[in-house]
Amino acid sequence: MSHLPFPRLPIVALFLFALHAPPSLCHTLERRATVLPAPISIAPDQNWDGIDGLWNSFTLRIGTPEQFVRTFVSTSSQQTWVVLPEGYQSTTHPSSCADARGWDYKINQSSTWETIGLYSLWIERNLGYTGNAQYGYDTVGLGGVGEGGPTLKNMTVGGLAVNDFYLGILGVNPKPTNFSSFAEGSPSYITTLRDQNLIPSVSFGYTAGARYRLRSVLASLTLGGYDASRFVSNNLTITFAPNNERDLVVAIQSITTDKSSSGSNTLLPSSAPIFAYIDSTVPQIWLPRSVCQAFEDAFGLIYDSATDLYLVNNTLHQSLVTRNASVTFTLGASLNGGETVDITLPYAAFDLQASSPYRGLANSTAYFPLRRAANDTQYTLGRTFLQEAYLAVDWERANFNVSQCKWVDGVQQHLIAIPALNSTTNGTGGA
Ligand SMILES: *[C@@H]1O[C@H](CO)[C@@H](O)[C@H](O)[C@H]1NC(C)=O
Ligand SMILES: *[C@@H]1O[C@H](CO)[C@@H](O)[C@H](O)[C@H]1NC(C)=O
Ligand SMILES: *[C@@H]1O[C@H](CO)[C@@H](O)[C@H](O)[C@H]1NC(C)=O
Ligand SMILES: *[C@@H]1O[C@H](CO)[C@@H](O)[C@H](O)[C@H]1NC(C)=O
Ligand SMILES: *[C@@H]1O[C@H](CO)[C@@H](O)[C@H](O)[C@H]1NC(C)=O
Ligand SMILES: *[C@@H]1O[C@H](CO)[C@@H](O)[C@H](O)[C@H]1NC(C)=O
Ligand SMILES: *[C@@H]1O[C@H](CO)[C@@H](O)[C@H](O)[C@H]1NC(C)=O
Ligand SMILES: *[C@@H]1O[C@H](CO)[C@@H](O)[C@H](O)[C@H]1NC(C)=O
Ligand SMILES: *[C@@H]1O[C@H](CO)[C@@H](O)[C@H](O)[C@H]1NC(C)=O
Ligand SMILES: *[C@@H]1O[C@H](CO)[C@@H](O)[C@H](O)[C@H]1NC(C)=O
Ligand SMILES: *[C@@H]1O[C@H](CO)[C@@H](O)[C@H](O)[C@H]1NC(C)=O
Repeated sequence: MSHLPFPRLPIVALFLFALHAPPSLCHTLERRATVLPAPISIAPDQNWDGIDGLWNSFTLRIGTPEQFVRTFVSTSSQQTWVVLPEGYQSTTHPSSCADARGWDYKINQSSTWETIGLYSLWIERNLGYTGNAQYGYDTVGLGGVGEGGPTLKNMTVGGLAVNDFYLGILGVNPKPTNFSSFAEGSPSYITTLRDQNLIPSVSFGYTAGARYRLRSVLASLTLGGYDASRFVSNNLTITFAPNNERDLVVAIQSITTDKSSSGSNTLLPSSAPIFAYIDSTVPQIWLPRSVCQAFEDAFGLIYDSATDLYLVNNTLHQSLVTRNASVTFTLGASLNGGETVDITLPYAAFDLQASSPYRGLANSTAYFPLRRAANDTQYTLGRTFLQEAYLAVDWERANFNVSQCKWVDGVQQHLIAIPALNSTTNGTGGA
């Protein structure tokens, strides 16, 4: 697959200021009705997509007439991204590549597209992801036809062709996007939903889904609240970290695994706790070198320096499946003490497949989704973690909960509204 970014687009200077909305979002948002709207649950697809694992995607309807694309939920982005035809046109099998990338969006077939320009994708630069997108405003609907998802006009859409982000994204972060230092920031999707009184507050609940659980458990995305049926509740609530581009930060107080014959079961000792950023945009878990070393020892992993991945051959794969060791993350608000919650991932959560063109791979291979972080700016709990954890974020109160997922076949949704900070109605929860 081609790595050419934008064969037809001019290279221009790229600036993008993504500013964080202040915690007190309320003063910019007016209550337009006294009736508290219910939270919205966005139906995931039946599809499992990706070249760095298989992840449950969400369909978006973009433009006029609507074009359908599949995307991943991004907790760190406030924008909607779609893949342009340039993202696969030069490959040997364009249509299967288009499908693998969640289908493309053709700008020139939408009558409502309004071009802004070429800007940097900005997020995940700390992890070495790069690229630009052709930005514009267009209509964006959530969910497929007939699913009753909201449709908003004039939302920020980035059309990309780079391989670092293989599918598009649906951003649930409320930051406005500033395309220039003069213009007003363009409002995010979730803030606009709240502004139009379609959801009770700027908040969401999300878990990535787990293909290996039960008969395969789909993702869950709730806007304006969370789905209480999907997790085991706990008493830990974490306030945002001060860095506005890295706010969903949790303390990892320790990481342990089942005791093996080799002795130690500690992967991250409680004497060396770290802070990590929770981010559904990226697939893997990024930890300090010493912790990666402990994983290597515990699981017999070998680092492949050509791809910077822990590739797993058939022999090792078979033994890891048989052993079925689990890994437990003990999380807190601070590095030591306080309320904590344990999130346990079975080996199946780490049993991922990578395929070409991911990180230059020629063939598909099993791999262990652990990455060596160069320093603390890279410590990240990605989508792998969110297969087994439920994340609920209240952007208005600037805090979030992270909980162990619950696995109950055919469980009924139980949506709970998170009331607006500046609510004139006392919310009692939704459907
Ligand atoms: C809520 O918002 C309204 C309108 O923006 C404002 O007049 C009111 O003072 C706010 N109330 C609180 C409690 O912040
Ligand atoms: C529309 O854009 C696609 C690529 O994005 C291009 O292949 C096609 O020629 C364009 N069509 C028109 C009519 O400009
Ligand atoms: C971005 O937009 C916001 C709101 O319009 C404004 O307050 C802020 O100064 C802008 N930031 C930059 C860097 O242009
Ligand atoms: C679309 O949104 C942008 C940024 O919020 C705004 O500047 C522009 O006027 C809007 N266009 C329309 C047609 O509403
Ligand atoms: C949460 O705290 C309450 C009150 O302190 C306690 O009754 C409850 O058992 C705690 N729940 C959990 C899951 O620890
Ligand atoms: C498989 O990988 C393990 C280490 O991960 C290595 O010891 C072993 O030699 C490899 N086996 C084959 C057949 O390549
Ligand atoms: C692996 O272990 C977990 C418990 O840690 C269990 O729930 C799961 O069923 C086991 N999976 C297999 C394939 O044995
Ligand atoms: C990829 O697979 C093909 C066919 O199985 C094999 O011939 C080739 O050597 C493999 N390439 C690599 C880099 O392993
Ligand atoms: C952290 O590591 C990244 C990647 O090597 C590097 O670009 C960055 O400058 C480092 N940051 C700090 C604060 O050391
Ligand atoms: C976090 O959990 C507390 C207690 O269960 C709840 O009151 C609060 O609304 C939750 N916050 C979010 C963002 O889910
Ligand atoms: C909301 O509830 C609080 C306490 O439960 C009460 O003091 C307040 O008056 C209520 N506000 C409204 C608008 O009903």
